[in-house]
Amino acid sequence: MSTQESAEMTQTKDTESREDTPRCLSGQTESYSSRDLTQDELDKLKTERVLVSEFKQLKLEKEAQKNWDLFYKRNTTNFFKDRHWTTREFEELKACREFESQKLVLLEAGCGVGNCLFPLLEDDLNIFVYACDFSPRAVEFVKQNPLYCPERCCAFQCDLTKEDLSDNVPEGSVDVVTLIFVLSAVHPEKMKMALENINKVLKPGGIVLFRDYGLNDHAMLRFKAGSKLGENFYVRQDGTRSYFFSKERLAQLFEEAGFVSVVNDYVLRETVNKKEGICVQRVFLQSKFTKPTVTQPS
Ligand SMILES: C[S@@+](CC[C@H](N)C(=O)[O-])C[C@H]1O[C@@H](n2cnc3c(N)ncnc32)[C@H](O)[C@@H]1O
Repeated sequence: MSTQESAEMTQTKDTESREDTPRCLSGQTESYSSRDLTQDELDKLKTERVLVSEFKQLKLEKEAQKNWDLFYKRNTTNFFKDRHWTTREFEELKACREFESQKLVLLEAGCGVGNCLFPLLEDDLNIFVYACDFSPRAVEFVKQNPLYCPERCCAFQCDLTKEDLSDNVPEGSVDVVTLIFVLSAVHPEKMKMALENINKVLKPGGIVLFRDYGLNDHAMLRFKAGSKLGENFYVRQDGTRSYFFSKERLAQLFEEAGFVSVVNDYVLRETVNKKEGICVQRVFLQSKFTKPTVTQPS
């Protein structure tokens, strides 16, 4: 791996692996607006005018699945930390039961190697989890995990932007969908398709629990010249891409796909990048959207 590549990995690692801190510790706040940028940061964003060529952009889109699969070939199951905060942060996972003994059906969309899925299976004995990812390697890692058992989970390969989830998950059968750092990896023009696909398998009244990169996150400011694909959309050295959401854009996307917003807030955190000895400002969006029980008039 080149130094540049490894720096990018650190960037992603910083972004996603240090999220096990409980909510509302000092340094983490829920916020109505994203963070303010410094003048240097504003200047940096202003100078980013040149976009990656259309040819390269098409290639990245065509090779999106391959690039994520290679990511898992390189990193196996060692990259992201288990996300033990999920039940803490999304109390719905427990609270959305109508009665205590109700078995919840979950879909973990874009499950990776199961860093969210397995802590959930360990925490809650009364859930069944469907888990999908478009990387065949990631799905295989999920199936090889000692906690994987077909009575409690079903992992399958699926490109959320192309393949019908309902080929593997009965329509209208899922209580809760988790979408954790996945939509940001999808091309902005295909995000609505992915959400409509999810909507189809969700029960009316069911919810989507969402966490992903927010606008002006430190990771967005770190991209070097030549990485910009479009408005708030960048490519990493390894060919994987990342979009940074404003809450307005996210709400619009979900609403266009037939959901209603329940919660949609920025989470602002200061984290220390030990390697560089600096304090960095992280911005995430943490949101909940529901599928209405009756069709909303458009
Ligand atoms: C940053 S990882 C997050 C993985 C997991 N949700 C977690 O929290 O650890 C993003 C995941 O999204 C998957 N992904 C990206 N685009 C996808 C698509 N169109 N369909 C299905 N999975 C996709 C990637 O393969 C990758 O595993």
